[in-house]
Formats: sequence, C-alpha cells, structure tokens
Amino acid sequence: MLESLGRIQNPVARSLAAAVTVGSVVAMTAGVVLGVGSAKDNAAHRAAVYASLVGIGCGAVFGLLYPAKASPLPSTSTQSPPSLEQGDRPVWKNWRNFVVVGKVKESEEITSFYLQPEDQGAIPNFQPGQFLTIKLDIPGQTSPVIRTYSLSDYAEPCQQYRLSIKREPMPAGTTFMPGIASNFMHDQVHEGTVIAAKPPSGKFVLDVHQPLPAVLISNGVGITPMISMAKAVALNPTRSIYFVHGARSGDFHAFRDEVKAIAQQNSTMQVHFAYSRPELEDDGHYHSTGYVNTDLIRSLIQQDAEYFLCGSPAFMQSLREGLQVAGVPENRVFFEAFTKGVPQPTEARAVASNGAIDHAEVMFAASGHTASWQSSDGNLLEFAEANDLQPDHSCRQGICGTCMCRILEGEVEYETTPVAAIDEGSALICISRPKTHRLVLDL
Ligand SMILES: Cc1cc2nc3c(=O)[nH]c(=O)nc-3n(C[C@H](O)[C@H](O)[C@H](O)COP(=O)(O)OP(=O)(O)OC[C@H]3O[C@@H](n4cnc5c(N)ncnc54)[C@H](O)[C@@H]3O)c2cc1C
Ligand code: FES
Repeated sequence: MLESLGRIQNPVARSLAAAVTVGSVVAMTAGVVLGVGSAKDNAAHRAAVYASLVGIGCGAVFGLLYPAKASPLPSTSTQSPPSLEQGDRPVWKNWRNFVVVGKVKESEEITSFYLQPEDQGAIPNFQPGQFLTIKLDIPGQTSPVIRTYSLSDYAEPCQQYRLSIKREPMPAGTTFMPGIASNFMHDQVHEGTVIAAKPPSGKFVLDVHQPLPAVLISNGVGITPMISMAKAVALNPTRSIYFVHGARSGDFHAFRDEVKAIAQQNSTMQVHFAYSRPELEDDGHYHSTGYVNTDLIRSLIQQDAEYFLCGSPAFMQSLREGLQVAGVPENRVFFEAFTKGVPQPTEARAVASNGAIDHAEVMFAASGHTASWQSSDGNLLEFAEANDLQPDHSCRQGICGTCMCRILEGEVEYETTPVAAIDEGSALICISRPKTHRLVLDL
C-alpha cells in the first residue's frame, strides 16, 4: 500500500487516498467489532463513528507527510512502453533488433524516433550523454550504413530509447549528396520499421552526483545529449545545472517545451535560450538574441563549474578556446563532436607525412590472421575489412570511439587528430596506420 501511495505525486491526492484507505479500514474494523459483540446501544455506535473520523483525519495527515517517489519525466512518446522483465537488465552483445514505435517531429530539421526491442525483453539503463549505434539497410548502398546517435531521453528504469535526428541537407554551394542515413530515417523509417542497434556507449557522460554545477551548452542538434543529462539530474536533483542552448529561431528549436517542463520539475536548473534570427512569434520564448559564445556564458555563470559542450564544430571550437582564455581548467570542459568539420590544414594527414612507413606485417591476434599491409591499403579499419574482418566502427572519423582496439605489440600513428578519448595501449583503427614494421592487434 505504501508503495502505491508513494507513486501519487500530488500531495492533496495522496492525502485523500490515505484518508479514504485508513478511514475505511477503521470503519470496517468497528463494524466487525459491533457485529461480533451485537452492540445495540447508541454510545457504541457513536464511538465507532468517531473512531472512523479520527482514522480519516490521521490518514489525511499521514498521506500529506508521506514522501512521493520520483516519477519518470514527461516523454513525448506516442506509445506506451511494453511490460518489461523485472530484475536483470542485461546488456546485449553486437546487434539487436529494435522496432520504431513512435516518430515525432521536434522542429523543422529534427525528428525523434522511439525504439523498443523487437524481442520485448528488458533494455539496460544508460549513462546520460551516451549514444546508440544503429545499422541501416539502405537501398542503393553496397553495405549497411552504420551511424551513431545520442540518446535524447532519460528515465530510470529505461523502457525505450529515443534518438533525435537532424536531416542533413546537401552542403550549401556543393553538389554533394544529402546525408544518407539522416534522410533515410526522415523519409523511409516509420512506426513498425525494424532497426538494428548496438548497446548504449560513449564517454561523454554526466555524473549526477558531482557537487560542482554543470553547464550544458549546445546549439542545433547538439541539444540531444543535453536533454538526457538534464533529465537525469532532475531525477536526482543534487547538482545544479545551467541549460544554455542556441537556435536560429523557434522553428528550428527542438525540445523547447520539454526543457521548460524539466526545469519546472527541478528547482536547481536554470535555462537560457539564445536565438540568432528570432521571428516575431518567438517573442517571450527566448532569453537573448545572438549566438551562444563565451561572453554570454561568462555573464550567466560566475562560479566554478563543469562545462559540457555539444554542437557545430565552429561553435565548439570557439567555446573551448574562449573557456580556456577565461581560465577554466581543461579538465572541467567536456565535449562531444558529431562531425569533425573541415580539418585544419596543419592537421590533415599530419602524421602520415612525418616519417611514415610504407609496409608492415599486421597480425589480427583474435582471428589468428596475419597480412602484409602497404601504405596504399589505407587505415587499419579498411585493411581489416579488406581481410574479411568486421571490426566494430561507426563514424570512421576518430570521433565516436567505437573502433577502439587494444594494441598487443607495436605502435600506430594517426592520420588526423583523434577526437574520442583513447584507452591506454589502444588505438582508433579508423584513423590510424602501422608505425612499426610489426603490429599485433587484438582483433
Ligand atoms: C557520438 C555521436 C553522436 C551523434 N548524435 C547525433 C544526434 O543525436 N543527432 C543527429 O542528428 N546526429 C548525430 N550524430 C551525427 C550522425 O552520426 C551522422 O553523422 C549524421 O546523421 C549524418 O549522417 P548522414 O548519413 O545523414 O550523412 P553522411 O552521408 O554521412 O553525410 C554527412 C554530410 O556530408 C555531406 N557530404 C556528402 N558527400 C560529401 C563529400 N563527398 N564531401 C563532403 N561532404 C559530403 C552530406 O551532404 C552531409 O551533409 C552523432 C555523431 C556522433 C559521432
Ligand atoms: S569508428 Fe568512430 S572512432 Fe573509429
């Protein structure tokens, strides 16, 4: 009974429920006592009525004081989640099929997809900020298209995953193809479509119990991991957070109402929306005009804090530099890059020109396969695939960390500077080549 009572969030409703329950129990007990004792006198009946009233009063006070349990935060899912196994929520290995159970347009460019496992089993919780790697069979593509998308929702226990995907247009002034996966998701994926996904992963995560305030700064679709982080903090509101987001205007601002709803549930959360090109109808929905930059952040936050950044490459670069100039220690700034942007001239293929070797013996230890690598074979991921291995990978740009592999012997060198954090003794094979004439990988 106490379990059910704790689930009622409204204190008045909780008080009423407790009053009715306790009053009924006392009245029934009094009734039984009167019946068994065959009491006929009015005094006994009056005593029973008084006892019931006292029971109702005590129940009302108890219900008012009894603490409510934290409830899941609002979700825009159009579907109710399936009943889940209780107990174990094992992390699956490799790919698992998920059914799209909801598709919701969030802004002009961003659409959310709600995923539940096809096998209707439980799904593991994840850390706020992590992403899901998905695999799409897209007509016209010679192999499955694999992409990573941040989980843009958060609940404990987790009953479905939500991905929120921006449609990537053809870059302005080019004739390049529009984004393959994002356009396929927007145009061809509907409720009922089955998509394979790997377990949640990623190191851009927020520790809700850290004492320092967390400043979540995003623009555009970079808002996705921030929603997850803000919701996780709202469930355990021990950490104060600032949610700063930049959008062009209201039409391009996804999750505006959802963020406001999270802030209403969490008094430790402050929100600031900056619109670079607001429309008249946006009046009252944003806090400042212009871009999110270091000046804005410094005007909003004057205390020690941890900073979490996610957005366009130019946005992140300017903020990282600005925060550094403002004296924020590097170990207080965390970021997730969705794309690498245009490589700096000094960065591109920098290492390859620096005394690179042109051949090596590469041993894939776990597969028991050894092959001879030439510089024309490209990076180690491409070389492994050419040798019929299928290493995990996603971004192929050194961003997501999915391809990280342990080096058992030898060394690698990077074609471009890695963005993902790399474990000691490991390498991102999607952007690296052998540096020594013998290289042994745990593949
Ligand atoms: C950790 C992580 C989390 C992410 N989370 C999200 C998220 O929550 N939401 C989200 O929307 N995205 C997210 N992304 C980005 C996502 O993984 C994809 O990169 C994105 O959707 C683009 O994929 P695509 O297949 O649509 O585009 P691609 O086909 O990969 O193309 C990307 C862009 O390059 C352009 N292009 C095509 N050909 C060329 C060429 N020859 N030269 C130059 N440019 C070209 C395309 O027009 C397009 O604009 C995340 C990425 C990472 C690494
Ligand atoms: S595949 Fe993403 S870092 Fe290598």
